[in-house]
Amino acid sequence: MSESIPSMRVAGSTVVGTTLREHVLAGMRAAPGATGEFTSLLNHLSLAIRIIHSRVRQAGLADLLGYTGETNVQGEQVQKLDSYANDVLVTVLDKSGHCGIIGSEEIDDAIVSSHPGKYVVLFDPLDGSSNIDTNVGIGTIFAILRRTEPRGVPTVAEALRPGREIACAGYALYGPSTVFVLSTGQGVHGFTLDPAIGEFFLSSPDIRCPIQGSMYSVNEGNFPRWSPQIRKWNDWIKMESRQDGRPYGMRYVGSLVADAHRTLLKGGIFAYPGDTKSPNGKLRLLYEANPMAYLFEQAGGEATNGVDRILDIQPEKLHQRTPLVIGSKSDVGAFRQFVTGERDE
Ligand code: AHG
Ligand code: MN
Ligand code: MN
Repeated sequence: MSESIPSMRVAGSTVVGTTLREHVLAGMRAAPGATGEFTSLLNHLSLAIRIIHSRVRQAGLADLLGYTGETNVQGEQVQKLDSYANDVLVTVLDKSGHCGIIGSEEIDDAIVSSHPGKYVVLFDPLDGSSNIDTNVGIGTIFAILRRTEPRGVPTVAEALRPGREIACAGYALYGPSTVFVLSTGQGVHGFTLDPAIGEFFLSSPDIRCPIQGSMYSVNEGNFPRWSPQIRKWNDWIKMESRQDGRPYGMRYVGSLVADAHRTLLKGGIFAYPGDTKSPNGKLRLLYEANPMAYLFEQAGGEATNGVDRILDIQPEKLHQRTPLVIGSKSDVGAFRQFVTGERDE
């Protein structure tokens, strides 16, 4: 007598969420001709971010606060965590064998990997340095491009390309929890680190930036140096108008990653305009503005320097700065109308 064959069930548990690794692997399986190198590169990047997460959490105890005493190419005092995060990223990415060129906010020139791979990786290893010692949210920002000549000798020209050529961009925000937000061109997805097991789990699939928000984020201390048009925008956004929800609330953390993350999720506008002291603003095009611009466009938002699309800017130098305005289409659109003089109220 044939024993009844136990019924088979297709495995499929909802008990365990989707990990970053699985999410990236699914992207690889869907990409024709994928070799797994990009997946491996992202896994290495995730490892570096988890190492930085671990040290950020202990910074106060591990003598990682304060300054190294050096000044970087930006002319800024280097914080110990800036330097540590930079060293971790360079070491892990170089060892991955997938990077031809590495560009870092903390390193004067682009560096050629010791065993060059197919990708260019540009990063701000520790964003929001001025907030490190006060336990405020800080982050890591990155952009990945495919090399134009993967078999050739890596050149810095392969890094000096418009942001529209980005293959993947994202950031880690070391806040109350550590989140990893990235896009490979198929929308924007957020992952939260479970520190107990060291794994990122999908927590915000398909993030969309609202078409309009109710908060603005700008360092109003620079008001005296702004152009008359930007001052008019700043006055306008604080004026009462029931019709379009003004005055907006003001939020400014002073860490781009924290201000950008809130704006991405809640909508509104973040602006770091140029001014009479810094005509090109403070933020760097290749590893702060471009990655954020890529993410905001992928999430249905917008990113401009006040006039032009950030992702269309042709870089000339590795550390060049640009005014940056990111956020909801409607709010960024209004800002641009003030800057171009189309409106003055
Ligand atoms: P970093 O710490 O990588 O140099 O970046 C700091 C940037 C950015 O995080 C933030 O938006 C901006 O500095 C804040 O500048 P202000 O303090 O001038 O407002
Ligand atoms: Mn930064
Ligand atoms: Mn930095």
